[in-house]
Amino acid sequence: MPVIDIHNHFFPRQWPDLAARYGTSNWPWIRHTEDGKAEIMVGDRFFRQIYSACWDAEVRLKEMDRDGVDMQVLSATPVLFAYDRPVEHALDCARLFNDAVLELCAQGKGRLKSLCQVPLQNIDASCNELSRCMRSGHLGVQIGNHVGAKNLDDPGIVTFLHHCADEGAAVLVHPWDMLGAERMSNYMMPWTVGMPAETQLGIVAMILGGAFDKLPATLRICFAHGGGSFAFLLGRLQNAWQHHPVAHGVCELPPRQYLNRFSVDSAVFDDRALQFVVGTMGAERVMLGSDYPFPLGEHRVGSLIRASSLTAGEKARLLGENATAFLGLPSAQTSTAASEQKSPIVPSDEQLTYSSYLKVPELLALQHPQSVPEHHDELLFIIVHQTYELWFRELLHDLDAVVANLQGAAANPTSRDEVYEAARLLRRCTEITRVLVEQFTILETMLPTHFMAFRAKLEPASGFQSEQFRELEFLCGLKDEKMLRYHRPTPEAHAQLERRLREPSLHDALFDALRSMGKLQVDGTATERERFDLRAHAILSLYRDERSNRDWIDVCERLTEFDALVVSWRLRHIQLVERVIGVRMGTGGSAGASYLKHTLDKKFFPELWEARTLLTE
Ligand code: HEM
Repeated sequence: MPVIDIHNHFFPRQWPDLAARYGTSNWPWIRHTEDGKAEIMVGDRFFRQIYSACWDAEVRLKEMDRDGVDMQVLSATPVLFAYDRPVEHALDCARLFNDAVLELCAQGKGRLKSLCQVPLQNIDASCNELSRCMRSGHLGVQIGNHVGAKNLDDPGIVTFLHHCADEGAAVLVHPWDMLGAERMSNYMMPWTVGMPAETQLGIVAMILGGAFDKLPATLRICFAHGGGSFAFLLGRLQNAWQHHPVAHGVCELPPRQYLNRFSVDSAVFDDRALQFVVGTMGAERVMLGSDYPFPLGEHRVGSLIRASSLTAGEKARLLGENATAFLGLPSAQTSTAASEQKSPIVPSDEQLTYSSYLKVPELLALQHPQSVPEHHDELLFIIVHQTYELWFRELLHDLDAVVANLQGAAANPTSRDEVYEAARLLRRCTEITRVLVEQFTILETMLPTHFMAFRAKLEPASGFQSEQFRELEFLCGLKDEKMLRYHRPTPEAHAQLERRLREPSLHDALFDALRSMGKLQVDGTATERERFDLRAHAILSLYRDERSNRDWIDVCERLTEFDALVVSWRLRHIQLVERVIGVRMGTGGSAGASYLKHTLDKKFFPELWEARTLLTE
């Protein structure tokens, strides 16, 4: 079993001057002093002395060999989190260091892996950056234990953690931006007193704030420094929970029952403390973490665990087995089993196969080019459209579930689960739509002349007749009965669209829920314009009381993003149309690009946009 250190840090040898790059002061920079040494400065202030192990893979590997460590998982230093900066600066900074650590790991002979950082003050940007990083080789993410006044049970952060679970990203929570600064300016007390308290606060907030109840059990999350003061003070927390209703928080179970939902590392620097942490958390929930190569880190990585009085089995778990699972690495047992396997499993006739499950042969038999002789690009034209239709299907599936959740929230206005679930599904919808916007670029590789070679065969087939596209519009609230006429030739599609016209839309579900929560006034005598204003003001009041409405604001933000992405889709489609057929009429008989330009003004949720205008008045 490999020995894996999940908590250690890096700094690149150099990085751009962040203060100049963003035009703001107090960014970290590096000042190399003598050979192999450097100082990290924050603005004019000395922050920390470091040495070449921070940036030199060779040095690291040598010291790992010395300490008997097979793998290190590197993360940045919290001083780079920048959660209190403008998001565009924090994101740019995250990207710089996320890419830099990958370069460092690339020289690590497969023994160096990394966790990325994200601008946690903005959940969308964080999710996107996490996804980008997971695609480029990071194993997960390191986050701070709070963002200003927001603890880890903040709905936005919970959404991000959900995204981590969805992405299979391991999460390391590191304390930072320590409390009580005014009384801890000396003696490194922010590190020795503030950090353990911050970490404990992070765990307690997640438990009592109900975050673990909302998050899937698949989330792999670990708290640094043995979980700070948490294990030692768990008895106190449990006692308060039992005897004081006010200390209950909103969690479903007593605090002790959540110990199987997170891990801690071993950076406690004392054998009895390690025994205690293992005794509290269980040997399967503690992992080697060293804080290497910083002065406060373990100087011989792994020595505390190796010299401890834990059993050999427990030591093996702490040194590597637990980390293997936490990081989602193939375990030694499974990889040996896999390599010992002589041949792949041959499924019997009755068993499902990849192909029979996904109906691959049927799928591949669904492309029927019309051009004779077949034009090379017509296959692309068909496949791109079919792919859009598949994603439209998934969007309808997810948006139907969003409507059902909002209706659930309307039926039970005090429950937050449905609101949270609606936001989670909407995030998927925005991600799908982002892909749909991008996908036009593939079709743009087709020359206009090549399209002309088979275009005549298409008439009158046109996107106008995309039943699912129109269904999406109707479902979101843009119901235009006139559009039904394009579907007369296909009675089933016509019937389905008629059903959508009758059913409550996403727009209806949103405002019905707000109404049942008492956040939207109803006035039966109001004109349509007045009702619109009431709805916009209902949204406005949500945003004006952020503390009480975070979950609903999250839903509104997702819907706004979705609305904006659909407009982007419309715009990219127009650009494609102009690129391929200029201002010609469409095969569906419309005026082509000039008709499509009118659709750019369409919005599913105009009240969400109006509220923004009202907010700035
Ligand atoms: C060479 C590529 C394409 C051309 C030249 C093109 C052209 C057009 C034109 C001219 C229209 C207006 C209706 C008409 O008169 O036909 C239209 C509508 C539409 N197209 Fe495309 N299109 C292309 C690719 C796509 C793709 C890949 C999709 C993906 C599903 C798509 C979906 C739609 C939809 C949904 C509409 C109806 C839009 C609305 O009514 O708001 N088109 N297209």
